[in-house]
Formats: sequence, structure tokens, C-alpha cells
Amino acid sequence: MAENLLTATGLEVIYGGRRGVKVLHGVDIAIRRGETVGIVGESGSGKTTLGRALLRLVDVSAGSIHFDGREITHLPEAEMRPLRRRIQMIFQDPMASLNPRHTIRRILVEPLLLHGLAKNAAEAEARVAKILERVTLPAACLDRNPHELSGGQRQRIGIARAALLEPDFVLADEIVSGLDVSTQAQVLKLLKGLSVDLGLAMAFISHDLSVIRAVCDRVYVLRFGKVEEEGACAEVFANPKSDYTRILLDAIPLPEINPGWLDPKTGIEDAA
Ligand SMILES: Nc1ncnc2c1ncn2[C@@H]1O[C@H](COP(=O)(O)OP(=O)(O)OP(=O)(O)O)[C@@H](O)[C@H]1O
Ligand SMILES: [Mg+2]
Repeated sequence: MAENLLTATGLEVIYGGRRGVKVLHGVDIAIRRGETVGIVGESGSGKTTLGRALLRLVDVSAGSIHFDGREITHLPEAEMRPLRRRIQMIFQDPMASLNPRHTIRRILVEPLLLHGLAKNAAEAEARVAKILERVTLPAACLDRNPHELSGGQRQRIGIARAALLEPDFVLADEIVSGLDVSTQAQVLKLLKGLSVDLGLAMAFISHDLSVIRAVCDRVYVLRFGKVEEEGACAEVFANPKSDYTRILLDAIPLPEINPGWLDPKTGIEDAA
């Protein structure tokens, strides 16, 4: 069994200071190297908060977080900085995280130089060209601004940007929610392929169980800021232990008929 990369024990998060509202009530989670873990639950159950707490983007009021064998729960930001490259995030709305005034070239090249992953601009550009091919985007995209791309293309840029930094861990929060079903399938398949190639560990947040089922090895079901159920994806989907999980499973909407699903090259089923 692979070793744990990112673990949290007894995580609590309170929004609004001491007299605020507690939204995580002692969450335990462990993500192994190379593993894709799903975090699922109703709106407001605390999925995004848990993701942000794991990345040290929101303070925790109790519990501990370890990354790569080191406790990071209260690590000062200056000491977190070297770890930040190794922990990447892909957002639901890439528009909000891509500078609208920058070209895609600049958006992809700059972080490589900033983190010293490329010696010079030429080397950075060569890497960018390679990753662009990997996420199946034409080189012509490089001279465009984010708003000149489609939603699916923007999401591929977000993935490319994260992958370029060779992280150990990627948090993906509802990254396909805004996309149509066939674009969802392509983006998920791409991300899953990259995670296998790069040995990435991923936490995949989604309220959509069919998305979780397509890409995750294990799943955590969150309810009111607590882990309601956890286990191998296949096991939880086949035999949910909790009534809450069963209700979530029953709520998976019936899919619309889409001829693309019959095409094995684009089907979600072969994403794994
Ligand atoms: N910055 C904040 N300040 C105060 N309360 C917050 C803040 N962010 C989230 N909350 C509250 O914390 C709870 C958990 O929110 P969170 O965003 O983690 O849920 P979620 O499971 O990601 O939901 P969704 O599926 O809608 O994205 C909610 O009740 C929410 O209103
Ligand atoms: Mg959320």
C-alpha cells in the first residue's frame, strides 16, 4: 500500500472567529501518493472548506495536517511557500484564476521561470509547447487571451498550468460543473491520464457522483462537516453503508441521451 502524502486528523474550521460558525467538525482524511480521492456531499456540507483547509488556505481551529511526512498545520506562510509549488489547485471557473490581460503563453511560461523550473524563456517555451500538446490544444492558443477560449479549453489551460509545475498533489474543486457532459468526459479523461503519467495524488471535489465514479479510487462522503462514509469507490457505490449516501446515489440524475457516449474515444467509462 502506497504511503500517505496528505493527511488530516480531527480537522475543525470555524468561520467568523471564536464566536463564529463551525463548519468542519473533526474530519479525518488520508490521501496516498498517486491516488485520486473523491470528496462528495450536498451543497454546504463543507467540501470546499475541507479542500481549502488541506491546502492551508483557511485556518483550522483544531486538528492537524501533514504533507509528505511533515506537520504543516500552523507552518508560517514563508515556510509553506516552498511547498506551494508541490500543491496545486484547479478551479471551477478558470476565468477567475487566469489573468484576463495576459496571453496564454505568458500565463504558462511565467510560473515556470518564477519557480526556477526552467533555466530561460526558451526552455520554458519548449515545456509549454509539450504540455499544450498533452492537453490537446493547438499552439495558436498561446497568443490568445483567456476570454478568447472556450470553457473546456480554459479548463485545459488550468490543468496544463498546474501540471507544468510538477506537483505531488492537485486539488480540483468542481472543475467540470460548468461544462457540457461530453466536454466533462474529455477534461476528466485528460486529468486522469496526467495524474497517472505524473504519479499525482488528487482530491476531486464534486457534488456529482457520476463524476466521482469516473475518476476516483476512494471516496469520502461529507455531511454537515463530518465524514459520513469513506471507502473504495466501487464498494461505496455498490454497497453504501449510510442511508445518506444511498439518498445521494439515488439522486444521480438520469443521463440525457448523447450519441457521443457510444464513442469509446470520448466515453467517461474509459477515463480510468
Ligand atoms: N468565507 C466564509 N465565511 C463564512 N461562512 C462560510 C464561508 N465559506 C463557506 N461558509 C459556510 O460554510 C459551510 C460550508 O461551505 P462550503 O463552501 O465548504 O460547502 P461546499 O460543500 O463546498 O458547498 P458547494 O457544493 O455549494 O460548493 C456553508 O454553510 C457555507 O455557508
Ligand atoms: Mg464548494
